[in-house]
Amino acid sequence: MSASHRSLFGQPRIAVAGATGRVGSALVTSLASAPAEVLALTRNPDAGQLPSGTQAVGIDFDQPSSLERALRDAERLFIAHGTAPRQPANEIALIDAAVRVGVRHIVKLSVLGPPSRSHPADWHMEIEAHLASKDVGYTVLRPSVFVEVLRRSAASIADGSWGGAAGIGRTNFIDTRDVADVARVALLDAKGIESQRAYHLTGPRSWNMQEIAEELSRQLGRRIRYADRTPSQQRAVLTGAGLSDFVAELLVGLDRFFRDSAFAETTTTVEQLTGHAPRPLTNWLAENIPLFTR
Ligand SMILES: NC(=O)c1ccc[n+]([C@@H]2O[C@H](COP(=O)([O-])OP(=O)(O)OC[C@H]3O[C@@H](n4cnc5c(N)ncnc54)[C@H](OP(=O)(O)O)[C@@H]3O)[C@@H](O)[C@H]2O)c1
Repeated sequence: MSASHRSLFGQPRIAVAGATGRVGSALVTSLASAPAEVLALTRNPDAGQLPSGTQAVGIDFDQPSSLERALRDAERLFIAHGTAPRQPANEIALIDAAVRVGVRHIVKLSVLGPPSRSHPADWHMEIEAHLASKDVGYTVLRPSVFVEVLRRSAASIADGSWGGAAGIGRTNFIDTRDVADVARVALLDAKGIESQRAYHLTGPRSWNMQEIAEELSRQLGRRIRYADRTPSQQRAVLTGAGLSDFVAELLVGLDRFFRDSAFAETTTTVEQLTGHAPRPLTNWLAENIPLFTR
């Protein structure tokens, strides 16, 4: 172990890429109380979105030397990346830089579900295969669908136009705070630093859209419906609402996974690793219920 991978107090230095995002922000908030020094890797270090005490380090994915500079003092690395065509190239560049400078363990945020040509599943398959070719410890986190995706439907739920092509398929939704809690455990696990492993992470149960509509109706005190559409009808609704073809295609692809119950599995991994049960979807809806009102 290199001495520079540890802080003055002997604590591991953990670099978090994606610290300004959904999972990453919950992770750096949680790591603030951990025996570790946290470096938040971001393209915009001056944006001021990080919790106090977290050190922002600027990176430029087009400059591999900036990735090496940012990672050279880190012992462990967490990678989350927003869904964008640059994702595979950027994550692979980070992995390569980490291996070059001697990072010992990489926790990579991936996705549950079947092998697929759809984005981002194909991108994660490519990145995971690249990671598997490296002689480094890693933990691949494969969560089911983030419950936060329901935010996208908030306006249509509020105005009564909610619908999609998910049919009656079942999906297990996970709270991103549970994904962050597992990432924290994996990053702090000194004994497993050389291990290569993957975890399938889910919430406590699966739902279909009709059951979510019933739960929303109960919490809002008014009737919420989910209109069943074909994929081409849904694509037309999404592009008609101004979404780009790229985003509309991602969302129609997600509905196909929902329709096929591709994310319906329920695992006990969150509880086994963190010691607490995964947060239920009903709680997330209750915390965010103002989103779904006009
Ligand atoms: N949504 C789901 O239901 C779901 C389920 C399972 C797995 N996942 C996976 O989870 C990952 C996303 O995690 P998340 O929601 O925590 O991430 P996020 O909030 O969408 O983005 C994380 C960070 O990625 C960085 N980033 C770097 N280059 C980017 C680019 N070209 N475009 C957008 N962001 C860029 C940004 O940080 P800076 O601006 O600070 O650089 C951003 O804050 C994806 O790999 C996705 O496939 C998602």
